[in-house]
Amino acid sequence: MKIGIIGSGNVGSALGKIWASNGNEIMFSSRHPENLKGLAESIGKNACYGLPAEAAKYSEVLVLSVPWTQAIDALKSAGSINGKVLIDCTNPLKPDMSGLALGHTTSAAEEVAKAAPGAKVVKAFNTTFVALMRSPSRTFGSQKAPASTVETTALQRPSFQGS
Ligand SMILES: NC(=O)c1ccc[n+]([C@@H]2O[C@H](COP(=O)([O-])OP(=O)(O)OC[C@H]3O[C@@H](n4cnc5c(N)ncnc54)[C@H](OP(=O)(O)O)[C@@H]3O)[C@@H](O)[C@H]2O)c1
Repeated sequence: MKIGIIGSGNVGSALGKIWASNGNEIMFSSRHPENLKGLAESIGKNACYGLPAEAAKYSEVLVLSVPWTQAIDALKSAGSINGKVLIDCTNPLKPDMSGLALGHTTSAAEEVAKAAPGAKVVKAFNTTFVALMRSPSRTFGSQKAPASTVETTALQRPSFQGS
């Protein structure tokens, strides 16, 4: 499966490494893609890098793993993701991490879905600390689940439809 990562920091790089090791093709993206050369090269043939719009065009599934304050801007820069699965890993935290920037009447996934017309938005991995994603002894990702398992899991979860 081709997976595009919007936000290749802690979470995006950790998830991308796991999925690449399971045979998926990953495009990491950044506003400064040249900074991702080392990451992609450390993974090898299953990884490449580019701008968010290039990752969106390349992928069947997209991952949104940017700070909440940047989430809508990052989606806008990705362009159309109509018809794709968008895995939203964000936590809607205030910039100083003092609390939630929204909640009770809406949620990050609902706001992401509004900004991603036609996408199937799935909330996932936002409660998994990155240290666990990176851990070699992790239960998360250690079973070498085939790409189809990831896809099926994402598609079976309740989701928000971008409109
Ligand atoms: N850290 C954790 O343990 C953890 C666990 C679960 C969920 N989360 C959530 O996952 C999200 C990412 O956390 P993180 O720790 O991975 O953050 P991070 O290490 O700061 O990485 C965020 C990445 O987003 C990119 N970015 C920022 N603004 C962007 C924009 N406008 N367009 C495109 N890319 C943009 C940045 O790349 P460039 O500056 O190069 O563009 C950066 O590499 C947050 O919402 C967080 O709450 C974090």
